[in-house]
Amino acid sequence: MEQTQLSRGQFLRQLGMSSAALMSFYCLGTTMTACTSASDDPMPAPTTPPTPITPPVVTPPAANSGITGMTTGSIDFTIDLLHPDFKKLKTEGEFTYVADIIIANAKGTFVALSKVCTHQGTTIDFRPTANDFKCPNHGSEFTTDGKVQKSPATTALKVYKAESINSGNSLKISA
Ligand code: FES
Repeated sequence: MEQTQLSRGQFLRQLGMSSAALMSFYCLGTTMTACTSASDDPMPAPTTPPTPITPPVVTPPAANSGITGMTTGSIDFTIDLLHPDFKKLKTEGEFTYVADIIIANAKGTFVALSKVCTHQGTTIDFRPTANDFKCPNHGSEFTTDGKVQKSPATTALKVYKAESINSGNSLKISA
């Protein structure tokens, strides 16, 4: 009897396997890279999502705070002088702070200035008797229109517009 040497493929075809089954068999017997192409990359490189743009933080006053408008950024707000927190401002010599602003009743005239001492940033106080502002840290003094009257500060305070409105029951502060 004549013996014929069969190739691996011929042998498997004689067993009745389709070409697709043969391909699967072939792939299982070899490395996976033999059955894939570059376009079938199972692990594409991760993409980095774009960094979101964060807007500046502008915090509106809380409801029922006696303040409406913006107290940071573009300063423009109104204080209710009938509100329990602010009605004292109707009295000469009284003062309060709203955000980074000190507001005082300076002998019957409302003034609003930056509360941040221009020397090293300490919060200043209003002095009713002297009718001026003083920094408790190193003693700098400022007039009610923000000018330095005593060093070590050398730069004036920023002054805001303070306008009595609503028959004197509200105070509008703006840049
Ligand atoms: S921080 Fe105000 S005088 Fe120094």
